[in-house]
Parts: sequence; C-alpha cells; structure tokens
Amino acid sequence: MYKIAIAGCGMVADEWIEAVKDRTNCTIRALVVAQNVDAAKEKAAKHSLSANVYLDLATAIEKEEISLVFDLTPPEYHFETVTTALKAGCDVFGEKPLAPTLAEAYAMVECAEATGREYFVMQNRRYIPELYALRDFLRSGSLGQIGQISANFQLAPRFGGFREQMDSPLIADMAIHTFDAARFLAGKNAVSVYCQEFNPVWSWYRGNANAVCIFEMEDGAIFDYRGSWCARGLETSWEAKWRITGEKGSAFWDGTVEAGYEWATERVTTGLSGDEEAAAVIMTIPKATMAKTKHAACIDEMFNALLSGTRPPTDCRDNIKSIEMVQKAIESARKGEKVKI
Ligand SMILES: NC(=O)c1ccc[n+]([C@@H]2O[C@H](COP(=O)([O-])OP(=O)(O)OC[C@H]3O[C@@H](n4cnc5c(N)ncnc54)[C@H](O)[C@@H]3O)[C@@H](O)[C@H]2O)c1
Repeated sequence: MYKIAIAGCGMVADEWIEAVKDRTNCTIRALVVAQNVDAAKEKAAKHSLSANVYLDLATAIEKEEISLVFDLTPPEYHFETVTTALKAGCDVFGEKPLAPTLAEAYAMVECAEATGREYFVMQNRRYIPELYALRDFLRSGSLGQIGQISANFQLAPRFGGFREQMDSPLIADMAIHTFDAARFLAGKNAVSVYCQEFNPVWSWYRGNANAVCIFEMEDGAIFDYRGSWCARGLETSWEAKWRITGEKGSAFWDGTVEAGYEWATERVTTGLSGDEEAAAVIMTIPKATMAKTKHAACIDEMFNALLSGTRPPTDCRDNIKSIEMVQKAIESARKGEKVKI
C-alpha cells in the first residue's frame, strides 16, 4: 500500500486526486502546502479525503510514513520538493516541467540515481489517442523519411498567478508539452535550437508570451514551433496544430481531441510520365484506442512501472531530453544565436 503525500494543492491537484482516489493500492495521507492551510483543508473536503495538512514535506513524510510523493508545486519548488522526497526514501511522481533550470534538472536525475528511488514526470498531453495514431502512422512509413514537423500553438488563457510573473511563461511552462510531443512523433531527440522569444504589446504577461523555435532533430529533420499565450483570435487547441512532411507525402492534424479526428493527408506519387502527381492518394490514419487518457493514463502507467520495477516513458532520465529542448530554447533566445543541445 503506497502512502502518498501531495505537495502543492492548487489547480492541478484535482486531476491527481481524481486519478488515484479509487485505487486500492494507495492512500493519500498528507497534503503539504507552503502557507495556505485553508486551501489544503478545502481540497481535502472537496474530495472527501481524511489526509492531514502539513506546512513541511519532511515532517509529513516522517509522521505519516510516506512512501510516494506527488510534487504538484510551482516549478521553482520542484528541486527542493523532489530531492527532499527522494532523500527521505520516497519515490516521486511530479508535475512538469521537471525543473526551471538544467542544472537543477540534472541534479534531480542524479539524486534519483544516487538514492535508488524513482522519479517520473507528468506528460499528460502525450496520452491522447490522436497523438498515438499519428505516431503509429509515421512509424508505419506511409510518409517515408520525415523531413519537417511543424506545430502551431495559439491560445490566450488568463491564469493569474505564477505564470504571469515568469520570464518565459510560454516556453518554460507550456512548450514542454509540444516539444515532448514532437520527440514522441519523431522518435528522435533534438540536437540544436534557434529560438526567438517576444512579448506582444497587448500581452498581459510580464515575460515573453510568444516564441518561434527551429529545432534540428538527430536524423536531420526540422521541428519548427510557433507559439503564443496571448493569441488574438483564431485559437488552436491545447495540443497545437501539426503538419508533418515526409518524402512520400504530408499529414495534418488540427489538434482536436474529444471532438474526434480532423485529419488531412496527401500522398505524392510518380505517374507514368515520371511527373509527380500530388494528391493522388488520400491516406487514412487508423484510430488508436486508449482505456484512459491524459493525467489518468499517465498516472496509471507510472503506477504500473513502479509495481513492476520498470520505467515508463516519463521517467526523469528520458524526460530530461524534453526539458533540454525547453532550457536550450530559452538560452538561444537570450543569446540570440543557435545553441547545441
Ligand atoms: N500537466 C498539466 O497539464 C498541468 C496543468 C496545470 C499545472 N501544471 C503544473 O503543476 C504545477 C502546479 O501548478 P498549479 O497550476 O496547480 O499551481 P497553483 O499555483 O494553482 O498551486 C500551487 C500549490 O503549490 C503550493 N506550494 C507552493 N510552494 C510550495 C512548497 N514549497 N511546498 C508545498 N506546496 C507549495 C501552493 O500553496 C499551492 O497550493 C506546476 O509545475 C505546473 O506547471 C501542469
């Protein structure tokens, strides 16, 4: 039976509590907050939890004999929360992004290695059937060698809170999802990035809410990203709009999830005259089925890995490749030059 402490009881904690409260192999014993004890008590009442509230994670771990910590704190507290938990002998499932700096991210992976405990990082936006279907379609070779993957992310959320005070809210807090999805689709890691960040005059964020990035993947393919968190109209879904171009054709996914699939594909064939004929074949992308999606699916996979002594795709050792894309993009934007990853 895993005894769980949840560190951070804000917006995202609801997803985690909902995902685990009916599991029979774990129990939520502690809620840990920085100062707002009432918010934690409200969270406990909302979900009918009998957990105790603490202001200090180490104390909660000791008093409640915690074996598993959910790190749901804002990014700047991930290092302290995760390393405290690992050093106290707990495994950790934590929210993205792994850490706000690469130095901290590497130190957290080293801490997991040194303590022999597991640290898995939430990438809920990987766990959607459409992304799996597209990934499988690309793997099948229907488009041949992939040359370019393009993602366009345009939204205008008003969060308030820490995101509106960050230096690079779009890249540091959100782009991890799209960058991680690009790695997932390509099946490759990035080797370099050029990024330009900017903050439109109408932006309500202190830091840069917009960015354009060009990544080179290890097979030479390009992943280009256009993103805005203060879009004015023509918004995309949270999954972004994707276009993938390969040697035999192209595929387009509009990022729709619950409403169903909106695919477009076009294959290029060579006619008898030797001329290429675009649009000759419209391909069908087979649907993928998943019992659960997003947070629930990712957390299930984390538990399955922990119980079977294996590591999921969200293991910190793999997730570091996505956080490198984030942090190197920020470094490139600051330096105004292309940066190796
Ligand atoms: N995967 C997703 O789709 C998704 C969605 C939202 C948020 N997130 C991530 O979840 C994390 C939290 O985001 P949120 O929107 O829930 O934030 P929030 O501001 O709503 O809540 C943060 C909570 O952490 C607590 N806290 C702050 N410092 C702490 C500390 N040192 N120890 C314990 N508790 C502390 C605060 O009291 C608050 O309860 C962030 O890393 C964010 O990027 C992920």
